[in-house]
Amino acid sequence: MTGDKLVWHPIGALPKEGEIRKVKIDGRTICIVEQGNQLYATGARCPHAGADLSQGWCDRGKLVCPVHRHHFDLESGRGDPGQGNFIPVFPIQTIEGKMCVGMKVPWWKRIF
Ligand code: FES
Repeated sequence: MTGDKLVWHPIGALPKEGEIRKVKIDGRTICIVEQGNQLYATGARCPHAGADLSQGWCDRGKLVCPVHRHHFDLESGRGDPGQGNFIPVFPIQTIEGKMCVGMKVPWWKRIF
């Protein structure tokens, strides 16, 4: 099914170690995070009450929400035990010398 195919988008300027950069790609706002010499791409909206996760910080492989401090694993997006929530995470790879994030085509773009 073509709807499940990833489309790769260049990230642009990369964040510095420990920095969380908010970027808008294909109509979605995501966080690009550099942590331990590894890049991660996650959703930017906290599922708890909608805070902007790019205003948070990283702690031992987790993205921490600045409002009520929910923690989300940078690799899986899973919230800490007891939170019962998660954030989306996106794959990153180098394509033709550019770091790119892979995103599925949103359902509304498949329809219209
Ligand atoms: S808004 Fe993020 S933990 Fe409450």
